Amino acid sequence: MAVIVIVGAQWGDEGKGKATDILGGKVDYVVKPNGGNNAGHTVVVNGEKYALKLLPAGVLSENAIPVLGNGVVINLEALFDEMDGLIARGAKADRLKISANAHVVAPYHRVLDRTQERFLGKRAIGTTGRGIGPTYADKVSRVGIRVQDIFDESILRQKVESALNVKNQMLVKMYNRQAIDVEETVQYFLSYADRLEPMVIEAELELNKALEADKSILMEGGQATMLDVDHGTYPFVTSSNPTAGGACVGSGIGPTKITHSLGIIKAYTTRVGAGPFPTELFDKWGEFLQTTGGEVGVNTGRKRRCGWYDSVVARYAARVNGFTDFFLTKLDVLTGIGEIPICVAYDVDGKRFDEMPVNQSDFHHAEPIYETMPAWEEDITECRTFEELPQKAQDYILRLEELSGAQMSYIGVGPGREQTIERFPIL
Ligand code: GDP
Ligand code: IMO
Ligand code: MG
Repeated sequence: MAVIVIVGAQWGDEGKGKATDILGGKVDYVVKPNGGNNAGHTVVVNGEKYALKLLPAGVLSENAIPVLGNGVVINLEALFDEMDGLIARGAKADRLKISANAHVVAPYHRVLDRTQERFLGKRAIGTTGRGIGPTYADKVSRVGIRVQDIFDESILRQKVESALNVKNQMLVKMYNRQAIDVEETVQYFLSYADRLEPMVIEAELELNKALEADKSILMEGGQATMLDVDHGTYPFVTSSNPTAGGACVGSGIGPTKITHSLGIIKAYTTRVGAGPFPTELFDKWGEFLQTTGGEVGVNTGRKRRCGWYDSVVARYAARVNGFTDFFLTKLDVLTGIGEIPICVAYDVDGKRFDEMPVNQSDFHHAEPIYETMPAWEEDITECRTFEELPQKAQDYILRLEELSGAQMSYIGVGPGREQTIERFPIL
């Protein structure tokens, strides 16, 4: 039995899809515990690229059962569009199971997401506009709609009515928008009921029974530690808990069952959307990382902001997630760049911070303190063992490991499934 949690260690897009794909072939279940169709996880198999948004990348693993856990927020239209697209390409996406307790994104959540962003003006978060924040807000406010509600029309109508009672006041009186019709919303949900029903399971029960039967589970977190609503750069975060603890909440698998907490981390850093980012680059190196790394958001097509590796962030992520291992990705992007800066600490108005400042203003003003390592010149994309890597690449990894708080067990040297060094394999 193994329960592995995959967690983004930075601000997202670290390569969680690829890590899931590599481990997904060796487990019985791949569970998505948080987020919704705000994610974009890329998997490249035999040169074919798949971009998963709402579905776990585990749908591409031959033998694993993919599950959307109770912590996920589901846009039903996006769900079936994505499933149909994958089925048309030969993936067995129809094996997907869904927790009866997962919440669903209503059309009004998307309207509210975009409206609220507009009203924030220059303080906007830069959300993906998928209605994720408002759906989680309703969940916590106890006016959300759950998957199971869709199969009881009278309860569904009551819940939609309650939610829209307040929202329509807001939309009409505050935001100067049209009211949303209760019946139209109810019919929207009901139109998916027949297709949805056979996929719905008591996920908490099934997953724990699987563990009793010595099965293995991989949890594929969306987003990342620095986007966590509790541990991230609040308010510039998503509205769920993408950290390892959140995976327990979002799946119903207890913390004592977790065997590995695997942090996915890029050999440099990227961020999409607004918010502080100490090592962000505005020079030719930022442009270099953006273009050479192909740093364009899978979900919204936005260019990702780019910067050097930040070991303060890595240590912080290792701490709050209890990482047992890191999966370092995109090492190949740094080939031939001469020198590689690594942020080891911050300077905030003359004061040195070796660890993440708790005060948000300090983090906003943090200037990175760098040390540099020489880069290697050789192409590393065909390396398959740690020893095959040029000495300078090995040294860079060992230094990151020393600074980051957990061993670098996997190393990505290209986007392909096979372009991975399994240094200390978990499974
Ligand atoms: P996720 O959201 O964490 O799953 O990451 P994304 O899929 O949004 O972004 C990661 C990008 O990096 C994708 O285009 C991957 O195909 C690519 N990628 C992952 N690992 C590597 C690697 O080791 N080297 C290179 N060059 N690309 C990688
Ligand atoms: P994966 O799983 C990168 C960012 C958005 C925005 C903030 C809030 O592919 O790593 P939301 O729509 O969630 O309310 O937006 O979070 N964001 C991501 N950035 N990768 C993601 O997912 C993200 N999911 C959300 O850009 O700044
Ligand atoms: Mg992504």
